Amino acid sequence: MNVVDSEVVAAILQKQDYQITEEINEASLILVNTCSIRDNAEQRIRARLREFGRIKKENKEVSVGLIGCMAERLKEQLLEEEAVIDLVVGPDAYRELPRLLSQVELGQKGIDTLLSTTETYADIEPVRMDKNKVTSFVSIMRGCNNFCSYCVVPGTRGRERSRDPETIIAEATDLFENGYREVTLLGQNVNSYKWGDMEEGVSFEQLLDRVAGIDPLLRVRFATSHPKDMSDELLKVMAGRPNLCRSIHLPVQSGSSAVLKRMKRKYTREHYMDRVEAIRKYLPDASLSTDIIAGFCGETEEEHKQTLSLMEWAGYDLSFMFKYSERSETFAARKLEDDVPERVKTKRLNEIIELQLKLSLAGKQKDIGKSYEVLAEGTSKKSEEQLYGRTSQNKVVVFPRGLVKPGDYVHVKITDCTSATLLGVLNF
Ligand code: 5AD
Ligand code: SF4
Repeated sequence: MNVVDSEVVAAILQKQDYQITEEINEASLILVNTCSIRDNAEQRIRARLREFGRIKKENKEVSVGLIGCMAERLKEQLLEEEAVIDLVVGPDAYRELPRLLSQVELGQKGIDTLLSTTETYADIEPVRMDKNKVTSFVSIMRGCNNFCSYCVVPGTRGRERSRDPETIIAEATDLFENGYREVTLLGQNVNSYKWGDMEEGVSFEQLLDRVAGIDPLLRVRFATSHPKDMSDELLKVMAGRPNLCRSIHLPVQSGSSAVLKRMKRKYTREHYMDRVEAIRKYLPDASLSTDIIAGFCGETEEEHKQTLSLMEWAGYDLSFMFKYSERSETFAARKLEDDVPERVKTKRLNEIIELQLKLSLAGKQKDIGKSYEVLAEGTSKKSEEQLYGRTSQNKVVVFPRGLVKPGDYVHVKITDCTSATLLGVLNF
């Protein structure tokens, strides 16, 4: 989401005659788009700010702005704590950047952290910053109304609001016409996308169907789904459109119903399992990925084991795994005790990571000998002679370049794998 937001910010600033540079020493303005989801994300930003401080010392013309969730969460406090910062702008205030920058030019500090109930930047055409010109993100909604007890997002990104579907279709069509072959529709909880009134409105299922209808050669992905809202209807729409990618990201967070209740996730282990079974029924070839938090408030060893057993049952292809990090102002920070010792959190996280490595490898080994349609994205990091791309299941495949160009669809026969990557040969 921050990648898309940075592209929106770049579009706003390009209108003011700013240009993007890849070379930090050339920059007259450094904007750092930030994440507050865990404390270590914020600590990394603080370290970068010290680096920017050194650049600013050498060149007095440079201004530094901090934008995104950390700006929203800490507001004026940032200007007090970090002398290097000239500008603080929250996620709904990017249209104010030109005004704030002219203040900064006059030697003042600029700040705007107002949240909005309507801002979606729908009319702004993002300046694409992706390198490959094949895959891109399209934001379809902003904010979140779920208030999971551990999460800062509803506080930093504000209330949920959906973007006008016509602008989404127009943006995806434009990307396709410019050679892009994959779009990922983004929102904190895409299943609650809703435009207009119940009867004449557009649901997420309808939106997805329309985006997939732009062209069969346009692959469409989406993130993130919430297990409480993941409908059979959505899976049926996906089953009917082969270009809706066979890959579902369904964050579970914990395998214990009691922990899920403390997390205010609004589903149980059994409901989650029911949704995975529905995915397997409608989309038998889909891959499944998830997010997991280790060591949430009050988590017992038994509850942790339930997470491991659910992982094993679901056979995740990929997981994003985190230690619980208490965030101030959340329900958990106010009402629950962050009582799992750091060393226990680390041990549990390591067990989760170890199991996921095993599952990822097993999932890829099953692909050996099979042939997949792969969208070529670019040159492999390891060798100029090889390209990388993805299967519909979102698995990365490395294969010999041959005459293939990024943006081409090719058939690749899988010959080998690691836990992260499939290796293959072109299959004519
Ligand atoms: N501590 C650790 N992980 C968190 N996430 C969200 N909030 C926290 C937190 N306070 C994780 C969740 C979410 C992902 C984006 O980040 O797993 O799905
Ligand atoms: Fe955070 Fe929950 Fe919203 Fe996801 S659904 S952004 S975890 S509050």
